[in-house]
Amino acid sequence: MIKSTDFGPDFLWGIATAAAQIEGASNQYGKGLSIWDSFSARSGKIKKGSTLHVACDFYHKYKEDIALVKLLGFKVFRFSIAWSRILPNGTGEINPQGLRFYHEVIDECLKNDIIPYITLYHWDLPQALENDGGWTSFSINFAFNSFVRICANEYGDKVKNWIVLNEPFGFTSLGYMLGIHAPGKTGLSNFFSAVLHTALAQADGANILRAEVSHANIGTTYSCSEIIPFTQSDNDILAAKRVDCLMNRLFIEPAQGLGFPTADWDVLEKFQIEYGTWRHKERLKFDFDFIGLQNYFPLTIKYNAFIPVIQAWEVKAKSRKKPHTAMGWEINENSFYNIIKQFASYPNVKNIIITENGAAYHDKIVDGKIEDVERIEYFKLYLTALLRAKNEGVNITGYMAWTLMDNFEWAEGFTTRFGLVYNDFKTQHRTIKDSGYWWQQFLIK
Ligand code: NOJ
Repeated sequence: MIKSTDFGPDFLWGIATAAAQIEGASNQYGKGLSIWDSFSARSGKIKKGSTLHVACDFYHKYKEDIALVKLLGFKVFRFSIAWSRILPNGTGEINPQGLRFYHEVIDECLKNDIIPYITLYHWDLPQALENDGGWTSFSINFAFNSFVRICANEYGDKVKNWIVLNEPFGFTSLGYMLGIHAPGKTGLSNFFSAVLHTALAQADGANILRAEVSHANIGTTYSCSEIIPFTQSDNDILAAKRVDCLMNRLFIEPAQGLGFPTADWDVLEKFQIEYGTWRHKERLKFDFDFIGLQNYFPLTIKYNAFIPVIQAWEVKAKSRKKPHTAMGWEINENSFYNIIKQFASYPNVKNIIITENGAAYHDKIVDGKIEDVERIEYFKLYLTALLRAKNEGVNITGYMAWTLMDNFEWAEGFTTRFGLVYNDFKTQHRTIKDSGYWWQQFLIK
């Protein structure tokens, strides 16, 4: 049976959250609109028409929630700063109530011996900046840099652990290519311009933290999935390679000083020529102290000539009769091991922290209890795979579970539950699930 002590005494165990998904108070205390506030107000965008107005009401319940982090035995609390709470218009005037709120959250963590890890951008761009083109506009980099500088100067004395971006591929693809996340834009030119400005923000933000925060521990996170060809045919193998370029390599390689992975996909070569990305090769580099990996599932990919640009198609877990979570995501701990190895093989990746991993199920509260056996099994499998990679010498120094409590799961609204703590969204009553108790046993006893 796996034990937390197998990972060594210094291993960091944490729990991750994000502002837009938990805070609520979305138009209170001086906060400006974010793209998720506007997107969720559009009909048909979020399941059941849910909004972020209240979410988990973390804004008012943060003390209780940080007490839960401690009760469950975690040492790290990862949360993000809502840009439009600090700068309601994205740039310019600062909202003092916003600054104060995150001081209070940080102080509450420190008081409880919890180490704060701050994510600077977890998808909630100020709407005012989106009105000027958002991530597709070159002016976003000036705005982001000044936001980072403000946060670094304000909180840098108290907080040493910083994450620049959350899943750059996630928000650029879902929000600027597929249009299923905020701001709902589509098309390749929106996507590629967003990719370039996001990659610049990744390095610029990190450089600003390095300059402004003494002894900062600076990382950024990547969504990652092992990409498995459906068959060993040349077509499937090449299709899988294209998807790998897009989903796994697109943002880490520029940071590693390798530029975009143009050699393995001609579409990226065209992007490079059109946007002159090679000019930025040096600026895109940053020697991160740690790389945050966020993994949930692998993807099985089949060639499909009818899919524009990528000519690849996912063969879903369900149709292959593979075990999956309520999101339809395949449960496959070996793929977790494999993708960790893939990222660890970059020569400049010196330290990996799993900054998100977890599972959604349709939890039910029965007689005041939530018996989420499947989630416990998921964690056991994935932690065992993690330990295997660690024991083979990969420098993995921490793991953060996604997530503290059920929350606003983006386009899924409140219909999918990822929490270790059940949230009743009508009463905001929190109930620890069996998986939460499992973690408590794992970490404390
Ligand atoms: C990735 C995102 O960072 C997080 O916000 C999301 O809720 C989880 N994965 C689960 O989808």
